[in-house]
Amino acid sequence: MNDKEFERLVTFLESRYGINMTGKKVIVQGRLDNYLARNGYKTYGEYLNVVENDKSGHELQNMLNILTTNHTFFWREPDHFIFLKDVILPEIVKKEKYTHDIRIWSGASSSGEEPYTIAMVIKEFLALEYNNWDTTMLATDLSSEVLRYAMKGVYLKEKIEVLPPAWQRANFKKVDEYNYQVINDIRKNIMFRQFNLMDDFPFKNKFHCIFLRNVMIYFSEDTKRDLVNKIYNVLEPGGYFIIGNTENIDKEASRLEYIRPSIFRKPL
Ligand SMILES: C[S@@+](CC[C@H](N)C(=O)[O-])C[C@H]1O[C@@H](n2cnc3c(N)ncnc32)[C@H](O)[C@@H]1O
Repeated sequence: MNDKEFERLVTFLESRYGINMTGKKVIVQGRLDNYLARNGYKTYGEYLNVVENDKSGHELQNMLNILTTNHTFFWREPDHFIFLKDVILPEIVKKEKYTHDIRIWSGASSSGEEPYTIAMVIKEFLALEYNNWDTTMLATDLSSEVLRYAMKGVYLKEKIEVLPPAWQRANFKKVDEYNYQVINDIRKNIMFRQFNLMDDFPFKNKFHCIFLRNVMIYFSEDTKRDLVNKIYNVLEPGGYFIIGNTENIDKEASRLEYIRPSIFRKPL
């Protein structure tokens, strides 16, 4: 890939998906070279012509599946889940005591470990009241491949071992010697959908809490600012916004209240 072709790809990715790959030519090429060779493309120019004019969305989707970084795991950054249980859920339950409706969105859900962890926290928190609440969650990502994986909810045994043993027993069933599947009672409560965070938000109802962790690291400051504004508009008053522990947002520009590192709140 020559510098001009790389520049073209960077501009395309950034303008459509917010993903900023500047300076990452080696990584990008390392991931794409094989794909081009296997699919008969002679040059990057030829490939980019197809991707940019891809009406079917097929080639584009393959590219996103290859280029997105989907690393995630259960119980990642535990302080967020503890805050959810100790602070956020008690507030929601109080506020929604007549509707019994909890609305949470995991906006870069990758292969499902994050939304499933959230769902398990909710289930444990509500305990005997669990079936009396609508706990349907939205979980979205750009990559169709990780979403397919998430919907199945099948994980290697060692991936679920970070969870407390009681949770493993209560929330998973054994598939075979190596694999465990999230039980239907949890899976049915998560709506996995493909969604590009750069698009207009189509949501009818506002969320009590939005997790957007470890995705904005790939976005430019301008993209982040616009996204945080959109987030603000779809949060309930008093609703929470949670980002990754190593991420930051422009506190001055945002109307969100700072609660503690990586946790923000829309004022009441
Ligand atoms: C590193 S994973 C984070 C997963 C999880 N939130 C966590 O913290 O463990 C980042 C995810 O963001 C998704 N992503 C990147 N750009 C996106 C966009 N414009 N819209 C939606 N998802 C995007 C990627 O596909 C990837 O699965």
